[in-house]
Amino acid sequence: MPFHEDDLDEAETTHFRSLTAAEAEGDERAVEAALRPKSLDEVVGQVRVRDQLGLVLEAARRRGRAPDHVLLSGPPGLGKTTLAMIIASEMTAPLRLTSGPAITHAGDLAAILSGMNEGDVLFVDEIHRMSRPAEEMLYMAMEDFRVDVIIGKGPGATAIPLEIPPFTLVGATTRAGLLPGPLRDRFGFTAHLEYYEPHELDLIVQRSAALLDVEVHDDGTAEIASRSRGTPRIANRLLRRVRDFAQVRADGIVTLPVARAALDLYEVDDLGLDRLDRAVLDVLCRRFGGGPVGVSTLAVAVGEERETVEEVAEPFLVRNGFLARTPRGRVATPAAWQHLGLAVPPAPAPLETDGTLFEE
Ligand SMILES: Nc1ncnc2c1ncn2[C@@H]1O[C@H](COP(=O)(O)OP(=O)(O)OP(=O)(O)O)[C@@H](O)[C@H]1O
Ligand SMILES: [Mg+2]
Repeated sequence: MPFHEDDLDEAETTHFRSLTAAEAEGDERAVEAALRPKSLDEVVGQVRVRDQLGLVLEAARRRGRAPDHVLLSGPPGLGKTTLAMIIASEMTAPLRLTSGPAITHAGDLAAILSGMNEGDVLFVDEIHRMSRPAEEMLYMAMEDFRVDVIIGKGPGATAIPLEIPPFTLVGATTRAGLLPGPLRDRFGFTAHLEYYEPHELDLIVQRSAALLDVEVHDDGTAEIASRSRGTPRIANRLLRRVRDFAQVRADGIVTLPVARAALDLYEVDDLGLDRLDRAVLDVLCRRFGGGPVGVSTLAVAVGEERETVEEVAEPFLVRNGFLARTPRGRVATPAAWQHLGLAVPPAPAPLETDGTLFEE
């Protein structure tokens, strides 16, 4: 069964696509492949993960054994697939790629596992989306390097044990919380990827610019980095759009004014908020007085689907302290009012007090 990186994520479709969505767009993976760091040394940021992983791999190399199974978790676009590929290349081992949604039956997994050789690295992207029976087969494969393949159905079914050469499983997930405990426990090493600091994203943009042969100024790349929401995928995407702008409307060089003009044109503001993010905050503050208001109402007001508001816009707004999710609905924080250039309304009087009234 051939596996291609392009096959991954096929099941995932969202209606709304913005420049600052952290998920990869359909044709983006090919471009990304060219920009991926190929070794641990080339990886920018994630210092702790890099150190720890380097140690795990070095120790395995010295023992001449396949490294422990590795779980990579973290939000989209931070480098999980990149690290999985690096693990294989650092071990000079072949990499097999598949994904949770692609493994619908235990038999799919058995077919993959039976084709593995000693030391191979098996990358299962979105591992939290694997089917239950496949998951249980994987437990056994990870621990005992053996699976039971069930032949036939009903009373006549027989289990045929199948030995699997020692391999390394690398699982990636954006939702570590959804992984069943037994699966999580079978990984010898778990790395949680964090959002990147602006100076790290700056280095990533500079590196990508060099690979894409784009001339950049330091303040130009810093500007792109600061609007990239802590996410390398977004940084690389913004760089490509700014490059377009530089080539068509300027002399091809990414300077600070060029970066600013381009990102303003694409409606990515100085904190990385895009049109939808700002529309959500705008409606919340101007039309609903800062909330609380239900997410469905917000979605109707901005003319988007509820899921889009909830999954595309809100996580970033919450993470950056612009919006709070409360049991009574969404509430704008003072930072939201300030970002829109509006006066922060006085805090409402507390609904319940201990009987004493304070007045200022
Ligand atoms: N530490 C890094 N240094 C340099 N570039 C990076 C780094 N991490 C990620 N990138 C770049 O960001 C892009 C996205 O990374 P990657 O595909 O590995 O993310 P991911 O975590 O697998 O995302 P998803 O959850 O959507 O699968 C890649 O093109 C890669 O070049
Ligand atoms: Mg990935």
